[in-house]
Amino acid sequence: MAGGGPGGDAVGAVGAAPGAPAGSREKSSRRFETEVMTGVNAPTNQSAYAGMRALVTGGAGFIGSHLVDALIERGARVAVLDNFVSGKRVNVPPSAELFEVDLRDADAVRKAVEAFRPTHVFHQAAQASVKVSVDEPATDAAVNVLGGLHLLDAARRAGVERVVFASTGGAIYGEVPEGRKATEEWPLKPKSPYGASKAAFEQYLDVYRQNFGLKYTVLRYANVYGPRQDPYGEAGVVAIFAGRLLKGQPVTLFARREPGDDGCVRDYVWVGDVVRANLLAVEQGLDGCYNVGTGVGSTTRQVLAAVEAAVGVQAQVEPAPPRPGDLERSVIDAGKLMQAGWSATVTLAEGIRRTVAWFREHGEN
Ligand SMILES: NC(=O)c1ccc[n+]([C@@H]2O[C@H](COP(=O)([O-])OP(=O)(O)OC[C@H]3O[C@@H](n4cnc5c(N)ncnc54)[C@H](O)[C@@H]3O)[C@@H](O)[C@H]2O)c1
Repeated sequence: MAGGGPGGDAVGAVGAAPGAPAGSREKSSRRFETEVMTGVNAPTNQSAYAGMRALVTGGAGFIGSHLVDALIERGARVAVLDNFVSGKRVNVPPSAELFEVDLRDADAVRKAVEAFRPTHVFHQAAQASVKVSVDEPATDAAVNVLGGLHLLDAARRAGVERVVFASTGGAIYGEVPEGRKATEEWPLKPKSPYGASKAAFEQYLDVYRQNFGLKYTVLRYANVYGPRQDPYGEAGVVAIFAGRLLKGQPVTLFARREPGDDGCVRDYVWVGDVVRANLLAVEQGLDGCYNVGTGVGSTTRQVLAAVEAAVGVQAQVEPAPPRPGDLERSVIDAGKLMQAGWSATVTLAEGIRRTVAWFREHGEN
């Protein structure tokens, strides 16, 4: 059964309003998303986007596709590089160029970068599941480390100005004790191969900066949630709970320590706020490493209660033991990014309400 582990990260879902013709489906779907994404589409430093050629890897996925929409809205030329392992074609707007490429194919990555000649690379593509990384660490490293290096090498040869990298604040620091929030200086102590591969790639980014002058921003996301997240994945508990409760199905609640407890503690951040962090990185030319989170810890059971309230039902809960690789508690401090002008604009209750509204609109998609 699909579980409710807060896990690391998630996979992309989709959609178009049921029953509408294809063209209008796309339009009405994106209009609705602009509505639920209020805040992201407010005008910012528009001049940063003039002449920008943005390559978004993973642009067919959950977070990447929202970023693609926001970049296009601001006037950037956008290309998506994705192999659709979890991303969806419907997530790629017609105005974005598409390179259907697997990051593990060095030649194909190089050709795509040479063809598009990006000024900026937003590297969102990843093997993004903690569970898969525990089961298949070599696959995780092949995509997240070697695949990332293929991209980085092509980027520096093509003279890319900046790489913005989607790292993880949720899986890179290890356990964060009660009452504390991890800052960027917190020792890196990943508990999963996924966290380890993200940490390794951060190091490579700095090596490329030192050797080739390639600028980078590392954004360490907390647990991201919102529209288009996959309700059938191994992680992405808001989407999983929303999907199951809307269908009247029971949910699994993975324990923090013992089955029946309230589950792990995570810092849940709205996808629109994560997109704004990416935009800020290029608008202000932010160098180095930044946490992207709310600083607020919520248990899996608290998330479930908010989804229950938004859906208007009470869930049937199936308690389960802790999952290997899952941290007990992860909450991060985004003070450094806030000093650059960022803030989390959407509370968990409001974000869950918007996410459930999106899932109602998109049904099984
Ligand atoms: N969702 C979260 O809570 C969260 C938290 C921290 C970090 N992140 C990171 O953010 C990024 C985006 O995550 P997401 O939640 O949108 O996941 P997602 O699975 O929806 O998106 C990942 C995208 O990458 C593509 N992809 C995967 N492997 C690929 C490969 N070998 N070659 C080309 N494309 C490939 C997928 O098809 C998908 O479109 C990832 O790097 C993830 O590690 C996510």
